[in-house]
Formats: sequence, structure tokens, C-alpha cells
Amino acid sequence: MQKTVFEYDLTLEPGFDLTWQATPAERFAMLGLLRRLQPKLSLEIGTYMGGSLQALARHSERVISIDIDATVAERLKGRFSNVEFRSGDSRTLIPQVVDEINAGAEELSFVFIDGDHSRDGVQRDIENLLKLVPRTLLVFIMHDSFNPGCRLGIESAGWDKSPYVQAVEIDFVPGIFHRYAVSTTTPRSMWGGFACAMLTPEKRNGPLKIQKSQLHAHNAVKRVSIHGWQNKWRRGLLRLERLMRAGKG
Ligand SMILES: C[S@@+](CC[C@H](N)C(=O)[O-])C[C@H]1O[C@@H](n2cnc3c(N)ncnc32)[C@H](O)[C@@H]1O
Repeated sequence: MQKTVFEYDLTLEPGFDLTWQATPAERFAMLGLLRRLQPKLSLEIGTYMGGSLQALARHSERVISIDIDATVAERLKGRFSNVEFRSGDSRTLIPQVVDEINAGAEELSFVFIDGDHSRDGVQRDIENLLKLVPRTLLVFIMHDSFNPGCRLGIESAGWDKSPYVQAVEIDFVPGIFHRYAVSTTTPRSMWGGFACAMLTPEKRNGPLKIQKSQLHAHNAVKRVSIHGWQNKWRRGLLRLERLMRAGKG
């Protein structure tokens, strides 16, 4: 059977064989940013199968990768010579890593946030990371900015509390609509997308505006998705109807 364009390895570099939960646009964007930034140090929240980590490890001198699942570090042991795995909840690990980086001399230039996907979890991870004091241009990429819960977490974070944040774009790479269930996703759900924040060692002068360049596209898709309030109501009514029918039977 003929392969689709997506089934070819166009978005992967030679040797990338770990499952990477990202769209082709996200992969190109991350690889492009890494080539441009050439990080001395990168930090990842959410290792999973090591898909994004293989890109970070290839293009950074050193990487710290955090995951709550201790089997991740076990599975990927020996795979990367420049990666330090930290196992545990980002809620406690990020503050420790931020203190270490701020107290040390290494230049952190790339942070990939892809761990806890709940609204509060995303917001908490970002706010803990905003305690970083940049020594060079520092880029944060937040995955799943198209998912309404993650998006709210990103939008609600206290970005302006860090004087080093110069710009935030929620729709740096727009996400996707899953018409049908794919892997762990539900039909008609919204996932993917990269939000991007830029921090510099210089302090910002003036107020910070959070840009959402694809807000209207996001809202249009949300209306027909399972995240739309009309659909939440409809699902609730159907559930009630089923319960009432079961009660009668
Ligand atoms: C979507 S996956 C990461 C995918 C990976 N970055 C990639 O691109 O292929 C999310 C990962 O975050 C981890 N995770 C979830 N909540 C976490 C938390 N509170 N602290 C640390 N890791 C967490 C999960 O165990 C899972 O491996």
C-alpha cells in the first residue's frame, strides 16, 4: 500500500528512532530552533519515550530531562552520554533544578515544557521556571498550546512577574484537531501546538502583551470540538437521558 507523506522520515534526522509525540510542523520548528540556539544546556519537562529528547541531546551540549515516571530513565539508560535524567514530580524537581542553574555558571538556552498537561500543572511548571535568571537568550517552548486546558494554563501563568520575559506567543506553531481517536487521544479533541516565550538577560522595559496570533482559528475549531461548551452541554444531556432510561427499565 502507498505510504503517506507523513510516513516518510522527512521530519527526522538520521538515527532518530524513538517515538516522538509531535506533529511534523513541531518537529521542524524544534529542530530549527535548536540549530539556531545551539544550547550549552537544555531542560526538558516530560521525557516519555525520549522522542523530543533525541533532538535536544543531538543539538545541545548537555540536557537535563525530568519525568515523574522512574521507568523512563531506566529504559533510556546509556542511550545518551550528555543527558542527566531526574525522576520525580516536576512540582518539586523544577524548583531544585532552577536553584542549581541560577547558582551555577552554565548557560541555559532552551526549555521544553511537556509534562503535566492539566491546566494547573502547566501553569505551576511555567511559574516555577520563570524564577530562572537568564545568562543568554533563553527560549521556552510549551507543547499542546492548542489544547484548551493547557492553553489556559499557559495564558494564566504570571509571565510579567519575570522582568526577563520579552515576548510570549501562544500560537507560535498552531496545533491540530483529531477528528478520530489517534493513539491516546479522544475523537474531536484538540492537541499539539507550540507556545513560545523569549527571555533575555536584559530586563524588559514596558508592559508585556501575550500574543495569540491564531486565536480565531483556535476558537473556531473549539466550537466543533469536544471542548466547546455547546458540546459539553449536549454530552451532559445525553448522559442524563441514558440514566433516566436506565432508571425506567
Ligand atoms: C506527552 S509526554 C512527553 C512527550 C515527549 N516530550 C515527546 O515529545 O515525545 C508527557 C510526559 O510527562 C510526564 N509527566 C506527567 N506529569 C508529570 C509531572 N508532574 N512531573 C514530571 N513529569 C510528568 C509523563 O510521565 C509523560 O512521560
